[in-house]
Amino acid sequence: MASGEGSNFEALILACRADQPPADVVLLVVNNPGCRAQERAGRLAVPCRLIDHRRHPSREALDDALIEAFTAAAVDLVVMAGWMRIVSPRLVAAFPGRLVNIHPSLLPSFRGLDAVGQALAAGVTLAGCTAHLVNEEVDAGEILVQAAVPVHAHDDHASLATRIQRQEHRILPLAVALAAQRLRDRTAAGAGRGTAAVQPSG
Ligand code: GRF
Repeated sequence: MASGEGSNFEALILACRADQPPADVVLLVVNNPGCRAQERAGRLAVPCRLIDHRRHPSREALDDALIEAFTAAAVDLVVMAGWMRIVSPRLVAAFPGRLVNIHPSLLPSFRGLDAVGQALAAGVTLAGCTAHLVNEEVDAGEILVQAAVPVHAHDDHASLATRIQRQEHRILPLAVALAAQRLRDRTAAGAGRGTAAVQPSG
């Protein structure tokens, strides 16, 4: 899922194509027609669907359209790679433990909009990014991977954002690998319990 530039989307594609992680990106969904992410999908030959929030009367209706698209594509994981909309509990419930987000701060600091600006305004000397599972609270789900970067005295918004983004491109593939591993562990644990349940009792 991407709304704008799509640099995280492209970084994830390139990582997956190098088998790190060994995953297929089967679909990109964008909400803004003509965004750079959509162009990147064309260049990288990844199927892309436009699901425009302006054409849906509510957050829930938008999320229903997303759920339908992801279900039809039979995806295991959904990655919010620069999705600039707040998702409703519906999407979270449809993909429990399967929805990953990337955020440009060291959470739990600087949740919400313009995390880079918030970090500069707070005068922190370390900033960074976080890839995390999504829950019903904004930018608050379980942390998967973080990376820290220094904030230099001469930094402005653009220079700090660029330094943070370089790290986002590294940690998002790692977070997808970790989320996928957890899913496999969960499935194996579930299968284990199932087997035990059918053991003869005597
Ligand atoms: C990233 O900084 C990400 O943390 C935030 O949105 C930005 C998307 O950048 N959620 P891009 O579209 O991947 O270049």
